[in-house]
Amino acid sequence: MDKLIISGNSKISGSVNVHGSKNSALPIIVSSLLSEKSLYLSNVPNVVDVLNLIKLLKNYGVKIAHNKNKLQINPEKINNLSADYDVVRKMRASILILGPLLSRFGEARISLPGGCAIGTRPIDIHLSGLSKLGANFEIQNGFVVGSVKSKLVGNKIKLPFPSVGATENILMASVLAKGETKIINAAREPEIEDLSNCLIKMGAKIEGQGSNTIYVQGVTTLKKAQHQIISDRIVAGTFIIAALILNSNLEIKKFNTLYLKSLINILKKMGANLKINENSIKVLKGPKLKSTSVSTSPYPGFPTDLQAQLMSLMCLSNGKSKIKETIFENRFMHVPELNRLGANITVEKDTATILGNQKFKGAQVMASDLRASISLVLAAMNANGQTTLNRVYHLDRGYENIEKTLSSLGVKIKRKKN
Ligand code: UD1
Repeated sequence: MDKLIISGNSKISGSVNVHGSKNSALPIIVSSLLSEKSLYLSNVPNVVDVLNLIKLLKNYGVKIAHNKNKLQINPEKINNLSADYDVVRKMRASILILGPLLSRFGEARISLPGGCAIGTRPIDIHLSGLSKLGANFEIQNGFVVGSVKSKLVGNKIKLPFPSVGATENILMASVLAKGETKIINAAREPEIEDLSNCLIKMGAKIEGQGSNTIYVQGVTTLKKAQHQIISDRIVAGTFIIAALILNSNLEIKKFNTLYLKSLINILKKMGANLKINENSIKVLKGPKLKSTSVSTSPYPGFPTDLQAQLMSLMCLSNGKSKIKETIFENRFMHVPELNRLGANITVEKDTATILGNQKFKGAQVMASDLRASISLVLAAMNANGQTTLNRVYHLDRGYENIEKTLSSLGVKIKRKKN
């Protein structure tokens, strides 16, 4: 497994272009399964989750040409409707194939994500929503096997929680369902809007995307389409926080700053000096930031995917900060590792208390998930001395060429291949 060796006391400067959004690219690539016609995508991030999804679709018989950040997907012939444990284990987003396959072929089979029982967390909202459209599910040898008697039929579906994945799955399934589907309490994340916009280009009839009620009028056929994936708001937010952690001037470019309103508001409250344009932000160095308290919540609230990065920043600001994590249980796996780097963070139930004014010191640390990993990189760049980050593959799932980008900004970072 690869390691990253990071020298501390870094300063960064210049500008960085934000790459395409992983969380938009994944459902949009999956949505190609709905159609027999080609889908051309640009601004596709070259990250491991996307590469794994491409492999999965190729296993189904889908023809895909991949050139840098462009994909040409030809889903005309599908010869396999099953996703195995190996793929699902690596990437929870594989669950999204259920909706399109059930809608187009009336059957789909996907390995249960580890430790999940049907009807309970974490795919209950997906399955109950798809059932309301007429799909039936059973568990066979560790697989969820879905089938539809004749054709999915539109319905009114009220989600108990605005799950991003469940909204996407039900939305995709309803595109070819008969009649109208109304998704109430839908997730409002920009990635759902991006998926809807791509589906509309493919011929779907969707209204209300980006609000909490989405209406879909079923259609019978889809057409060839081209779509540019939006840029990754979480990657953009990560670079903004990186500049603040290193008290450096940095311009973060090519992303829609409206999508980061919640982060921008919090950073401004902490005293950050930010110059905000429509598609770029300049971070300017300034005095030490103030502490604050934050709760993660569904969009437009503060994203759980930026929680770990903000925590690294809070370790360096003046005073005591708090972060309440309301979206995922156990999403504080970075805390013991940040403490190894010199942080002083305690966790009680869903809330972390972060003592500020700490000094990070280089150490050996272990990446546990994607966002946890990047929070450790951020702390390591600021630390005194050298840090070795083990299990880098988590980072590669969502950040394109992270060490090349950081090197180009002035960080001493190198990858050791194992
Ligand atoms: C997506 C994002 C992920 C982000 C998350 C929340 C992708 C590929 N991933 O994940 O980066 O952190 O949104 O913004 O877009 N839940 C259930 N039952 C379900 C579905 C979800 O209980 O059927 C629970 C989950 O366990 C979790 C919460 O709902 O506690 C949020 O999950 P969800 O919004 O579905 O996140 P994902 O789509 O998995």
